[in-house]
Amino acid sequence: MQNIEQLKNSALELVQNSTDVKQLDEVRVKFLGKNGEITSILKTLGKLAPEERKTVAQTTNEAKNAVFAAIEAKKAELELAALEEKLATEKLDITLPETPYNLGKRHPVSFVIEELETIFAKLGFSVASANEIENEHFNFTALNIPAEHPARQDHDTFYFNDFEEFNGEKQRKLLRTQTSNTQIHAMQAKGAPLRIIAPGRVYRCDSDLTHTPQFHQIEGIALDKDITFSHLKGVLQVFLSQYFERDVKLRFRPSYFPFTEPGTEVDIECVFCEGKGCRVCKKTGFIEVLGAGMVHENVLAAGGIDSKEFQGFAFGVGVERLAMLKYGINDLRMFFDSQTEFMKHFGKNL
Ligand code: PHE
Repeated sequence: MQNIEQLKNSALELVQNSTDVKQLDEVRVKFLGKNGEITSILKTLGKLAPEERKTVAQTTNEAKNAVFAAIEAKKAELELAALEEKLATEKLDITLPETPYNLGKRHPVSFVIEELETIFAKLGFSVASANEIENEHFNFTALNIPAEHPARQDHDTFYFNDFEEFNGEKQRKLLRTQTSNTQIHAMQAKGAPLRIIAPGRVYRCDSDLTHTPQFHQIEGIALDKDITFSHLKGVLQVFLSQYFERDVKLRFRPSYFPFTEPGTEVDIECVFCEGKGCRVCKKTGFIEVLGAGMVHENVLAAGGIDSKEFQGFAFGVGVERLAMLKYGINDLRMFFDSQTEFMKHFGKNL
């Protein structure tokens, strides 16, 4: 008990003699830190006889509180003194110009996605998402892409060495090559009727002037009892006209995607020459913007949807491509170069 009293007094003395906050903190650690001299006594209470334990605990806690309060008071005193000294000596020139401050901007990929989400919200689509790390089933098999399909080759797809168990089979893991995996996940999670878009990152083993290993797509899928190709045309017409802020002329070309039947590639009239023919559209007057089609019945089945009751359409569009066309960005790689000049010019104010 006498020891505790002595310990307390020497702590209080050191507190009083501290001349700055750092010194004060050293005193705190010495006595009240995790292995501090007062803290350590509290840790040994268990070894004492019960009647002794009570009084020792009480005295130690009182000592602890007294030292703690003294430290707090001294700290306030030292801080006030430091502030007063600063105010007495420091001279502020409030007529100096401000230091320039670089406020960040929103990246074109981000605000184009937001723009499209707003357009599709008005058409009754909600926003969904799914994993970027996928397995072969969701990226390929469920989308009616057979094992021998060229997109499954190593030179197109980033594969992991790991497999995961799915549907009783070992499925190889990969970075998704398209947002179309969200079609299956959304059907399984929400069933039909369904109306979602799903923006996100996709990955392909590809890198040159017009390809980057990572880019963004927006997937869309709509299922209901009587959805036809006309609905697809109508939705794309509204979406692209609203996005490009003009009445864009669309051209549908028959195309093949294993997960659609029929499938189509959709072009817009060239935004640079208004269809007259220029370098960008290679004198054709049209530019390809997206892939779409009616959802294949095998895909509906993989999503657990009865294709006799529900049908629908799906589409996939490249976000960077849309941004390049609307804002006149001519090099895809600039999106991911982290150049502040690019952001200064094409970024949007927050
Ligand atoms: N997933 C296709 C692609 O990446 C685009 C697409 C989506 C086509 C949906 C048709 C339907 O090219």
